[in-house]
Amino acid sequence: MQFTLSAILASFVAVATAATVPVARATCAEADRFGDITIEPSTLSPGDTFTVTADFTCAIQLGVNPEYTDYYIEVPVNNNSYEPPILIARRTLTTPPTDSFTATLPYANYFANASYALVLDTTYAVNGTNGSPYSQVGGTEAAVTITNSASAAFQSG
Ligand SMILES: *[C@@H]1O[C@H](CO)[C@@H](O)[C@H](O)[C@H]1NC(C)=O
Ligand SMILES: *[C@@H]1O[C@H](CO)[C@@H](O)[C@H](O)[C@H]1NC(C)=O
Ligand SMILES: *[C@@H]1O[C@H](CO)[C@@H](O)[C@H](O)[C@H]1NC(C)=O
Repeated sequence: MQFTLSAILASFVAVATAATVPVARATCAEADRFGDITIEPSTLSPGDTFTVTADFTCAIQLGVNPEYTDYYIEVPVNNNSYEPPILIARRTLTTPPTDSFTATLPYANYFANASYALVLDTTYAVNGTNGSPYSQVGGTEAAVTITNSASAAFQSG
């Protein structure tokens, strides 16, 4: 009897393993849950073109299916109160689980020594306590260095 049960369990495991073979599951950290972004190049002056690549493999695996993706240049830490978010792109995920686009750094007012980041805000649906869906937003970021080769607007302090 015990042998039979083991054999049945073993065959379940074999079937389950066979069924999941085509999908290589990534090892995902909680930090990946709103997507992973890279920006290339990551040192920029106003007018420079850059490429942003976002990977939502882990996000989707963790239940975050992007409805909208908004990309900003921000100063998340030590914000001097004159550094509002600058919208770079508002997108939808048309080629899941990844997205890629090029953009140009706006001629905005940037501050020397501020720690800029490209911030991705991912809007995704969750089910409310009564089962009706609503949208939640989570963010992730990548560091960006902004230099002053072109802009007269670059400010100190
Ligand atoms: C930085 O300060 C600006 C101006 O007060 C504000 O609009 C923005 O939300 C702040 N950004 C962050 C990331 O705190
Ligand atoms: C919300 O509930 C519906 C219906 O049960 C389900 O199909 C859907 O996957 C749920 N969405 C999330 C984000 O859990
Ligand atoms: C930026 O930081 C460097 C090194 O701490 C300092 O020498 C420089 O004066 C700072 N520049 C501004 C504009 O604050």
